[in-house]
Amino acid sequence: MATNEADGGTLLLKEFGLDLAWVARIRQALLVWSSESVRDLPWRGERDPYRVLVSELMLVQTTVAAVKPFYARFLSRFPTVQTLAEAEEAEVLKAWEGLGYYRRARQLHAAARTIVHEHDGIFPTEPQAILALPGVGRYIAGAIRSFAFEHPAPIVEANTQRVLARWMAWTEELKTTRSQSRLWGLAEILVPDDTPGLFNQAFMDLGATVCLPKAPLCFFCPVSRDCKARDLGQQDTIPVLTPRAAPLLVEEACAIVVDSVDRLLVVKRASGGLWEGFWEFPTIHLQGADPGGRSFGVGVSLAEGAHRLTGIEIELGPELHSLKYAVTKHQVRLHAYRAVVLGGEPQPGPGLIEVGWGSLEELERLTFGSAGRRLLSWLSKNRLTTFGAYRH
Ligand code: ADE
Repeated sequence: MATNEADGGTLLLKEFGLDLAWVARIRQALLVWSSESVRDLPWRGERDPYRVLVSELMLVQTTVAAVKPFYARFLSRFPTVQTLAEAEEAEVLKAWEGLGYYRRARQLHAAARTIVHEHDGIFPTEPQAILALPGVGRYIAGAIRSFAFEHPAPIVEANTQRVLARWMAWTEELKTTRSQSRLWGLAEILVPDDTPGLFNQAFMDLGATVCLPKAPLCFFCPVSRDCKARDLGQQDTIPVLTPRAAPLLVEEACAIVVDSVDRLLVVKRASGGLWEGFWEFPTIHLQGADPGGRSFGVGVSLAEGAHRLTGIEIELGPELHSLKYAVTKHQVRLHAYRAVVLGGEPQPGPGLIEVGWGSLEELERLTFGSAGRRLLSWLSKNRLTTFGAYRH
């Protein structure tokens, strides 16, 4: 039997009435199951640690289906850690555009630079050095180590923590330190020395396809006989997870300012904030929390705010469109108003580093956040009817 179960391991097993024979059965059953049922995903069986890092960072808070096209595109643009390290941040954000949670793109870029500058371009294999890479926590470190280097490193993420909690019939809220320490402890005991990568992938897939959050498919589960929650009939009430707080509601407004040759006015956000380095239409905060730092205070109109942001005086028209987008724990309703130019010279205001005019085609090449991108495609679709009506 592997070394992982030594000492504390057997004690932990005992605490849950489990033993090494149980560990052996789970390992065996999962490996047999995975030979038929493991999902065919583009990053499956990947042994290049850089590629594992890319896939795992993309998969944070994002579905497999959403990640697939980005993964292939990103890697054809940045096939190696060197190509990524040499890229400008704007290029990296552009390749990430549409995936959201852009902090991950910046972390990936910083990790590539760390590998090139501090590890001579060779992906580190030491656990502490992997954990020290930007964006890499215990879970991603475990994925890199087990998938790429075949280290017996555990992984606990949304899928596997649910499976573990059910196997142990763990009834405490999963986020507590005590729960996390038990979950990581059991995952560590379970991961085998000889096939850690295969085991971890099968483990995640079991959670993603059989041991579902609601109505788990115990009938199809290869280890249902060894599951304590199932034994106790508690598979529907375990795990215990406090629901996320309701999102904070936010209202924002932006101006779609058009000049006489159909160019649109856009601004680029300065460093420091959530939207650092992104382009957007001149936007002000209206109500609720202010996740983007766009507030000018109560009573400042969009026309006045846009003037302060861009140096351009505008006359506002009616609302053109409105859309919802989510950012961190906020849900934002963004109202887009049409506007025409009265005068002024472009001059970046607070929180901005650039103001510019561009045709829709030119703007397509810049990096926008998801809301800006959706507005651009909306404008592009409605172009003739939209602008013809109010061009002077
Ligand atoms: N979610 C997080 N990491 C994953 C992976 N490697 N495969 C499938 N889903 C995942």
